Amino acid sequence: MSHATEPHPLSARPGHPLTGVVKPPGDKSISHRAMILGLLSIGETRVEGLLEGDDVLRTAAAARALGATVTREGEGRWRVVGVGLGGLQDPAEVLDFGNAGTGSRLMMGVVGGQPVTATFDGDASLRQRPMRRILDPLLQMGAQVLSEAEGGRVPLTLKGPREAIPIRYALPVASAQIKSAVLFAGLNAPGITTVIERAASRDHTERMLRLFGAEVRVEPSGEGGHGRTIALTGQPTLRGTAVIVPADPSSAAFPLVAALIVPGSDVTLRGVMMNPLRTGLITTLIEMGAEIERLDSREEGGETVADLRVRASRLRGVDVPAERAPAMIDEYPVLAVAAAFAEGTTRMNGLHELRVKESDRLAAVAAGLSANGVAHAIEGDDLIVTGDGAPPAGGGCVATHLDHRIAMAFLVMGMAAQRPVAVDDGAMIATSFPSFRPAMTALGADIVDGVVQA
Ligand code: S3P
Repeated sequence: MSHATEPHPLSARPGHPLTGVVKPPGDKSISHRAMILGLLSIGETRVEGLLEGDDVLRTAAAARALGATVTREGEGRWRVVGVGLGGLQDPAEVLDFGNAGTGSRLMMGVVGGQPVTATFDGDASLRQRPMRRILDPLLQMGAQVLSEAEGGRVPLTLKGPREAIPIRYALPVASAQIKSAVLFAGLNAPGITTVIERAASRDHTERMLRLFGAEVRVEPSGEGGHGRTIALTGQPTLRGTAVIVPADPSSAAFPLVAALIVPGSDVTLRGVMMNPLRTGLITTLIEMGAEIERLDSREEGGETVADLRVRASRLRGVDVPAERAPAMIDEYPVLAVAAAFAEGTTRMNGLHELRVKESDRLAAVAAGLSANGVAHAIEGDDLIVTGDGAPPAGGGCVATHLDHRIAMAFLVMGMAAQRPVAVDDGAMIATSFPSFRPAMTALGADIVDGVVQA
């Protein structure tokens, strides 16, 4: 298990308007997949704009341990020489994924479909997260779990089959991680592996598998066509290619909401990925009255990206439908912060999956709102936040439970609340947005070390 880093308390104080231009870091989902597909391909993959956060660096280290040659050539520029399907080696050491749910689960899909044995572990947060959802389909595909911590958690040792069994798998929850694990395992299956999802989740795996040369068919399915059926033809030859990683909308969410709530702000976010399966937060904020202008839409590396000009706005409460959750699953903590500044009630429906993220995010958000004087309630799986259009009191210190998004969301609150907001530990921000503090400071935010509450 990774050594716990020292907790690093941080506080954000209300201050000047935020102005300027920021380029959020590379998308985390695409960065993990670039490393994994680089490993599974023959030849060279060149990645530009890779997120150099701790989560992705763990995936890079795991790819190396499984046989790839992985080299950093410059800022965000990485070269991966893969081993091809069937060429993986048993890692000599435990694969330590730190805080990274996505990296570990996607790599379980790889190992679960290939003739290799690997042990997965991570930090105290990852050791709490459910892995049964990944292991269940992998067992059907021929993988064996040689050992596991209680309740199907890491540390666990997984042994893949010589050849995976192609399955038809209906996802029990809308999760791109489960979908991706099954598809990665299906790469080594003779035949068609099919995944059926009731609600479409982020489709980066499908897009990138095609980019590397696999055949993937996607059809709408289910009630109202909200779902998808994804069919992968097994045992393709994957060839290394160039991957350009667009800016992560889930990281852009923090400067975006900060610009909306800090009076007088005017911020432009550069090159943000606009994949419709990732833009639920933007849709919701626009419904709330946010002034977000989409400028210069263009194609980059197979995704649409745009610059977003965001101006401080008066927000009003809205109802966020449960069907939208997969397209904004990581954005609820910061949406709850925006809702605290809005006039009226925001109801976020169907948040059960938030309970199994890096922390129990529903509980962590509610505790953070309580600490800062924001009226809210949890009803079943719904979070209800009520504001009066004025800045909330602030002055609280928020427990982050090793969760980067809880830390960033409440620092954003502190930039516009009546009093500063502190977080007990900002160290985990490095997993997804290592430049968060300098980027926000460059826009005019006031973030200081330690706990400042008045
Ligand atoms: C991710 C999928 C989502 C998301 C995570 C990244 C991915 O998780 O929360 O941050 O890259 O596939 P679930 O699949 O559990 O919804």
